Amino acid sequence: MKYLFLVFLMNLLSQYAGKPLRRDGSYPKSFEDIKNEIAGYTDIAKAIIDLAVHGKAQNRSYERLAVFADTIGPRLSGSKNLDAAIKYMFSALQKDGLENVHLEPVKVPHWERGEEFAMMLEPRNQSIAILGLGNSVATPPEGITAEVIVVASFDELHKRAQEAKGKIVVYNEPFISYGETVQYRVRGAVEAAKVGAVASLIRSITSFSIHSPHTGGQSYQPDVPQIPTACISVEDAEMMSRMAFRGTKIVVHLKMGAKTYPDSPSFNTVAEIVGSKYPEQIVLVSGHLDSWDVGQGAMDDGGGAFISWEALSLIKDLGLRPKRTLRLVLWTGEEQGGIGAKQYYQLHKENISNFDIVMESDEGTFKPSGLGFTGSAKAREIVKEIMTLLLPINATDVYDNADGTDIDYWMRDGVPGASLHNDISKYFWFHHSQGDMMTVQDPNQMNLCAAVWTVVSYVIADMEEMLPR
Ligand SMILES: *[C@@H]1O[C@H](CO)[C@@H](O)[C@H](O)[C@H]1NC(C)=O
Ligand SMILES: *[C@@H]1O[C@H](CO)[C@@H](O)[C@H](O)[C@H]1NC(C)=O
Ligand SMILES: *[C@@H]1O[C@H](CO)[C@@H](O)[C@H](O)[C@H]1NC(C)=O
Ligand SMILES: *[C@@H]1O[C@H](CO)[C@@H](O)[C@H](O)[C@H]1NC(C)=O
Ligand SMILES: [Zn+2]
Repeated sequence: MKYLFLVFLMNLLSQYAGKPLRRDGSYPKSFEDIKNEIAGYTDIAKAIIDLAVHGKAQNRSYERLAVFADTIGPRLSGSKNLDAAIKYMFSALQKDGLENVHLEPVKVPHWERGEEFAMMLEPRNQSIAILGLGNSVATPPEGITAEVIVVASFDELHKRAQEAKGKIVVYNEPFISYGETVQYRVRGAVEAAKVGAVASLIRSITSFSIHSPHTGGQSYQPDVPQIPTACISVEDAEMMSRMAFRGTKIVVHLKMGAKTYPDSPSFNTVAEIVGSKYPEQIVLVSGHLDSWDVGQGAMDDGGGAFISWEALSLIKDLGLRPKRTLRLVLWTGEEQGGIGAKQYYQLHKENISNFDIVMESDEGTFKPSGLGFTGSAKAREIVKEIMTLLLPINATDVYDNADGTDIDYWMRDGVPGASLHNDISKYFWFHHSQGDMMTVQDPNQMNLCAAVWTVVSYVIADMEEMLPR
């Protein structure tokens, strides 16, 4: 420790030799200075990696998540499970010895799918697996029985608008990318209703399927009738498409008991390691605690939430206290449109100049390769330099851009943002489906993710200067 300090002091002296003073008595840092400062974290980065990947904390984020996911289950906004999850985390973070553990109240949407099923009646009886989409209205109690029209795109729907009236629109859109294809889930009901359809069934947004429906958010529009909408498996969408192509008449009976209740009280869950020198300055690490009501929400976003918690635990275990405050936020209501994050932003944006970086992991905790980053060119150069500290686990890449519903508000206003970049090749196989269970998670991969997340958040929180905007 003493030796380290001496090296640090010598570094400091050589950095500042012969530089002009700023008005406040500090010295402006050249990139060379910053590089040296970051290189000074090599041993700490190694200690974090050792602890997370090989040492006493090995598999901890995985083990903690497993107990949580198996105990609580899925955590839909407005549900008792989400309440239980927040209580659980509040107590777990306190027991972990973190500081300023508290809940920030926010009202979230409360939608429940109720009982639902679909049955193909013509050309033959066949049960169709469905998952109602978030916010969908119910069918009438007797259900809807109607002929199906299958389309592969919105374009085709518009061209065949005359045919769609009174029918159930089945979208069999090909999977291109999540960002592009998810439009069918989000706008499918509205576009179908505009041409007079009575319901819409949407091929699940996934690149791979074993007959799994994948739910998710969708939005109605004012002045467009609200029709029931659900996702179906890739296999059933393709089957109905083949049938329709042959000119076979398809009739489906759809029953959905979905209900929307008044908004429900919920909370963002917060814990900190308070900074030693600039406690008012914040490095925010986060994931969302809510999930859809299927599977266990182990991947989306149990993994992100638990590696974020792990970052604080690892830093505490190493007896480190960064200069800035490291703040963990576990968002509520993300799947309903980033509701918790929106309120958090509105409440805290008066302090925006003190937010150094906002980080969210919400795209899986598989094998990490680095970070997605949003920020100025100068900040990116610094972050690239920080990522060299992750050479021992080969997770040094910096990609454009950071991605995370819950950190978007800050990034739009110029706060640097980071998201975990990992191997998402299988992410959408499980996303928002019954398959999102602990089985998807791998303890070794979570260890690596936790190491990346911890090194980045610690070093940024501890560097002498905030990232430039
Ligand atoms: C961590 O998980 C891996 C993979 O399952 C296992 O081989 C290893 O023994 C575990 N380590 C501990 C400390 O439980
Ligand atoms: C199909 O199901 C309907 C409703 O459950 C039933 O009335 C009908 O007899 C079935 N048809 C065949 C061919 O099994
Ligand atoms: C803004 O920062 C100040 C100084 O750290 C703090 O006292 C205050 O509570 C913060 N305001 C909000 C809304 O977080
Ligand atoms: C390091 O990761 C990159 C992808 O980020 C990969 O292409 C390369 O093969 C990896 N190298 C090693 C030694 O694992
Ligand atoms: Zn998510």
